[in-house]
Amino acid sequence: MSAEKVTVSVIKADVGSVVGHSRPHPSMMEAAKDILTDAQKQGVIEDFYVTRVGDDINLFMTHYKGENNKDVHGAAWECFQKAAKLAKSMKLYAAGQDILTDAFSGNVKGAGPGSAEMSFEERGSEPLMFFIADKTEPSAYSMPLSRIFLDPFTTTGLVVDARAKKGFDIEIQDVMDNKKVVMSAPEETWSILSLLGDTSRYAIKRINSRAGIGPAAVVSTDKLNLTAGKYIGKDDPVCICRAQSGLPSVGEYLQPFMNNTMMVAGWMRGSHYGAFYPCSPEESDPVYFDGPPRICCLGFQLNDGKLQGLEPINTKGGDHIPVDFFKGNTWDLARMNAIKASRFMRSQGPFMPSILGPEEMEYTSRPEVLRELTSRFIDLNDEKAEKCNLDKDVE
Ligand code: F6R
Ligand code: MG
Ligand code: MG
Repeated sequence: MSAEKVTVSVIKADVGSVVGHSRPHPSMMEAAKDILTDAQKQGVIEDFYVTRVGDDINLFMTHYKGENNKDVHGAAWECFQKAAKLAKSMKLYAAGQDILTDAFSGNVKGAGPGSAEMSFEERGSEPLMFFIADKTEPSAYSMPLSRIFLDPFTTTGLVVDARAKKGFDIEIQDVMDNKKVVMSAPEETWSILSLLGDTSRYAIKRINSRAGIGPAAVVSTDKLNLTAGKYIGKDDPVCICRAQSGLPSVGEYLQPFMNNTMMVAGWMRGSHYGAFYPCSPEESDPVYFDGPPRICCLGFQLNDGKLQGLEPINTKGGDHIPVDFFKGNTWDLARMNAIKASRFMRSQGPFMPSILGPEEMEYTSRPEVLRELTSRFIDLNDEKAEKCNLDKDVE
């Protein structure tokens, strides 16, 4: 008989922040902690950790209830409701922003918050890495995950670890048409990249080991803009990864963030490209042009469904201390490169490629401008009209 599967869930939302879109108030984080402490006592979840990146509250939860569980999602929903209420009472900015419905229907999908969940049989030792990002969109993880799982020049394990060498199944989601396809790496690597290069449509949802280890990585791909029917906010996605022993090592997961300056969409007004800036959650306030897009990475060991960080063993109530991978001066060079690249993009002002393509802009005044110009536009295929225009010029 196989062992019971543990589920790791991250559910996140932006429900208001102090000084524009900067950071949630500490009382909002505390309220979430209290609600999850209760959920833990009631046996809904095994363990949890509450953190944030920029203005997004991220709830890490472990449990044995499987993915999309009503009680687990319900606990997260309650956290965001309470935090939004507090934000409203303090007149914080964008209070309640990611809560798109009054009625909870058993699952946060389509209701505003983003979620990533994976279920697996816990190994003898189970290192977990949680990437959380702000001012960007799900496909922001496509480039780093491609480097980690498809590129042996990043992950030497793909060459020298017999189980990693068996390859990975990559589930790619078409976030516009709500479709998915599973492709195999390394055999279909170039075809996979041919899809993923279009970051406006395709994003990696899930990566599974082909050596029988189960899920390796899962990304929250909820397109908040499309869910709401109009662009309400960016997705600010999360990615949960399992590491080591036949999967990429912790160091292989981190390497792309040191060696590559990666441009991602969603900075300022959800409408600009900027470079991923690796940092600690403590340093994740958006301080430059509402950004730049920031990414944090926190690590825990899983211990019989409980999170184990640097805190004393058996610590209760979410008082964990994760390993904060992007903290510290090792990352100064990567951060400097991200700032240089982001400054270069800013030098282009409101011109592409600094701004996104028209279909991806969160804000645009173009329809209004075009409406006003309707009677002034001349069809260049209409020779008569053009001649008339030229005659006018001669006059
Ligand atoms: C929000 C964000 C910001 C806002 C910008 C304008 O997460 O990324 O860049 O888009 O500050 O916000 P509003 O329209 O609320 O004034
Ligand atoms: Mg915000
Ligand atoms: Mg945000």
